[in-house]
Amino acid sequence: MTIDFPEGFVWGASTSAFQIEGAVDEQGRGPSIWDKFTRQPGAVYHGDTADVACDHFHRLDTDLDLMAELGLQAYRFSISWPRVQPEADGTNEPGLDFYERLVEGLLKRGITPIATLYHWDLPQALEDRGGWSNRATTDRFADYVSAVVGRLGDRVRRWVTVNEPWVVAFVGHMEGRHAPGVRDEATAVKVAHHTLLAHARAMEVIRAVAPRAKAGITLNLSDVLPASDRAVDAAAARNVDLFENRVFLGPLFRGGYPADAYEFWSGVTDFGFVRDGDLAAISRPMDFLGVNFYEQHRVIHDPAHTNGPSNLVRGARKLAPEPPITAGEVAIRPEALYSVLTRLHREWTQGLPVWITESGIALHDYVGPDGRCHDPERIAYYDGYFRAAARAIDEGVPLQGYIVWSLMDNFEWAAGYGLRFGIVHVDYATQERLPKSSAIWFRQVISANALPAMPVAAGDATLVERSA
Ligand code: FCB
Repeated sequence: MTIDFPEGFVWGASTSAFQIEGAVDEQGRGPSIWDKFTRQPGAVYHGDTADVACDHFHRLDTDLDLMAELGLQAYRFSISWPRVQPEADGTNEPGLDFYERLVEGLLKRGITPIATLYHWDLPQALEDRGGWSNRATTDRFADYVSAVVGRLGDRVRRWVTVNEPWVVAFVGHMEGRHAPGVRDEATAVKVAHHTLLAHARAMEVIRAVAPRAKAGITLNLSDVLPASDRAVDAAAARNVDLFENRVFLGPLFRGGYPADAYEFWSGVTDFGFVRDGDLAAISRPMDFLGVNFYEQHRVIHDPAHTNGPSNLVRGARKLAPEPPITAGEVAIRPEALYSVLTRLHREWTQGLPVWITESGIALHDYVGPDGRCHDPERIAYYDGYFRAAARAIDEGVPLQGYIVWSLMDNFEWAAGYGLRFGIVHVDYATQERLPKSSAIWFRQVISANALPAMPVAAGDATLVERSA
């Protein structure tokens, strides 16, 4: 007896341009907001930059071979806007050539490309004109998207418009923990709207230029639970759910911001940036929703708080997660994935295909004296989350693919190289790639399109990986 996934279910791995490419000033690439941010003292752990990262730009062919060896069916990557439009206009052909080689290399190896158009590396030239707080950036985005889709739209059949608008808006413009490092809540809410508008513009371009392609946005959704059955905790959890999930789901799937959004942000913004027609454009149907799933939050009412650091939401506090947790201090809760997927289907997407576009665990992986990288905790993690996905599929959620984060260890934004998410270990000194035991295990899952009936308990994972 096995746990089978539907025929045609797609398994893959994900990366993003800034996190792996390096070669930041080669072949005409312009600076991005992250190039600048990484140079600000104290902004990134250890002062790490992504100038070299995984040197993927120079190692494209061998990285493609690696993907093929791992048996991946799909590869989700992102396109670097400042490589394509260094000064945010015109087109830098060598930038597009790189992605064309990537796409050709994938297709030649039978791997389906899934391209993300915006994964956080805004050209600095646009930030200098107000970045995402300037509505005109959405027009610039449409222009960039037409250059990219014009070149690749006949071969890339699945596009993600924007990756995690919540992080762009609130981590980048309210907490300031990410580029561009702005700390202003009113700006952040406006940016949230503009990233949704950018998604809408990109959808229009893709529909016009590559009508046969599938396109959608990727949201990072979290499972939010009140920490007790007290009514005040339930209300606090509703606010966190609004702030992290519903503020995006509402415009995308119901054509409007949830009613409580206006109340929640009432002393902060009057939503004057929403213009006629915006919500109609944002809610136009997509072909799938991408979900990046990492977090479950348990929330208590705490009137002392205002929106700010990541564990605080106005009137609420997210409790520190209880074990088991990842090296990034995120709760490991497979049932939270099940709960998010089933709720999404029931309340929001209702039949729209869903993809897990990212899911993964940070660990402090290392190469052992036997020359291998053993990551039994990652095997146990994915085993649990894949089972949760299978359960959601059994209950009718049209989940079509599961793309893990990440293909390889890489530059983890403000955490620098301090957290490893890859199924492939990267030695940053030599750039050597070494598939971890989870990669070998994943290859077996992919080829079987199934999991053994018996779950991998964390303690047993060592045995499983030894046999892998
Ligand atoms: C997501 C990002 C991705 C990576 C993972 C760990 O929020 O989309 O780039 O950093 O987290």
